[in-house]
Amino acid sequence: MSTPVKKVPIHLQSAQNRLLIKHGKVVNEDEITEDDIYIEDGVIKQLGRNLIIPGGTRVIDARGKYVLPGGIDPHTHFEFEFMGAKSVDDFYQGTKAAVAGGTTMIIDFVMPKKGESLIDAFYEWRQKGDDKVCCDYALHVGLTHWNEQVKKEMEALCKEHGVNSFKVFMAYNFMLNDAELYSAFDTCQKLGAIAQVHAENGSIIAKNVEKLLAKGVTGPEGHELSRPEEVEAEAVNRACIIAKQVDCPLYIVHVMSKSAGLALKQACERGTRVYGETLVAALATDGSHYKHECFHHSAGHVLSPPLRPDPTTPQFLMNLLAQDALQVTGSDNCTFNKAQKELGKEDFSKIPNGVNGVEDRMSVIWEKGVQTGIIDPCRFVAITSSNAAKIFNIFPQKGCIAVGSDADIVIWDPSRTRTISAATHHQAVDFNIFEGMECHGVPEYVIVNGRVCVDEGQLRAVEGHGRYVDTPVFAPYVYDPERVADLKPVKNGTHDDSLPEHFQNKVQIE
Ligand code: URP
Ligand code: ZN
Ligand code: ZN
Ligand code: ZN
Repeated sequence: MSTPVKKVPIHLQSAQNRLLIKHGKVVNEDEITEDDIYIEDGVIKQLGRNLIIPGGTRVIDARGKYVLPGGIDPHTHFEFEFMGAKSVDDFYQGTKAAVAGGTTMIIDFVMPKKGESLIDAFYEWRQKGDDKVCCDYALHVGLTHWNEQVKKEMEALCKEHGVNSFKVFMAYNFMLNDAELYSAFDTCQKLGAIAQVHAENGSIIAKNVEKLLAKGVTGPEGHELSRPEEVEAEAVNRACIIAKQVDCPLYIVHVMSKSAGLALKQACERGTRVYGETLVAALATDGSHYKHECFHHSAGHVLSPPLRPDPTTPQFLMNLLAQDALQVTGSDNCTFNKAQKELGKEDFSKIPNGVNGVEDRMSVIWEKGVQTGIIDPCRFVAITSSNAAKIFNIFPQKGCIAVGSDADIVIWDPSRTRTISAATHHQAVDFNIFEGMECHGVPEYVIVNGRVCVDEGQLRAVEGHGRYVDTPVFAPYVYDPERVADLKPVKNGTHDDSLPEHFQNKVQIE
């Protein structure tokens, strides 16, 4: 039995939802084309020139704009009870903020309490999400403890509830030991699921925290000192070695440091099937903020693994994304207000971990990646949408603009700019780690399942418009990469005179 799929109400499928997008540059991960797009009933029905369109269809002129697959943020924590606080973005505000920023699907983490049934926790998350989401969503499930019951429930989640990814922790008070990681990876492999790993050495962190507090280091600057980058890199390396023993495909979440990125790249070169996700936070800001004299400012940047003091880290990680040594970007949106961060006023290890980004991710990555010339628009689409869709096995329903795909589309104006601020963002939190950042690249229209939810820049998100999306096991991209290569030859791009000059040498003329 599959999880019931919520139907889009009839009133949302009115003629108003017949749309034609004309004159835009359609960007997929492999090429840019000048096609018009006809959408009906939430699905892309026609793609090309001189389309024959029914009367009464709304026409959107995308001349001079890019038309992108909607962003997929594979890493959020809405309404998550963690470290004594509950994250303030719930599934309504979080997905509304996502849509405002050009993201049309999120994947959140079901986080069972230690010892709790995975299935019960899954239902709890569906209850939080189903009626509130403004865009489609799927769920990963955290493995916060390990036993035979967990193993059985993983199978049920894969077979009956559309789950294909499980996150294990090498840190926090619900970390698994190496033998448990081995069993968890082995179970994932047998089920055709993907194992996600929070890679930090929790035992070393605990000792470092003790030592720092004893020395009187209690402020947020202690956070990074207690979990420096080699502690992250060691765990990445160990996770890769363990996964390789059982041939389990691995997905390292929130790669935050140069050393961790390199450990992942080297494991990949040794033949480990491993994919890497980095965060918009890591690509656009750094650990210098932990030294800020204002507690709210420094604690506002606390997440794990931490931002790194080395200011060249963001560009290094962007280069890894450009080289395909990392494949995915997420936000890890897990927002706590200033008052909640004060739980750690006397002890940095008690500051609730998490930052914003679900709304900011697309514009910030465009600014730091495309605007700087490190990646081109096709690679932008790959790392913000298509690769997540492939890894979590929802491609080509999501993550591309093609006939038959869901009409999750962003009309992106690369010439406009906006300045990020907590005063104007849609995230529920009272702080923004990208405060004051000016970004080129603004979503002018965001179409979610065929409905215009940002219309000429105006947000018109609809609570409950989204659906739960099943993620089937045995993703071909992960379990059979050769078959995928056969299905769709990889092209590096199309010639596009309008691209900035620094892209032209990367662009192939067809
Ligand atoms: O600091 C973070 N990353 N908070 C969310 C929980 C997690 O580990 O992803
Ligand atoms: Zn984590
Ligand atoms: Zn301040
Ligand atoms: Zn997270």
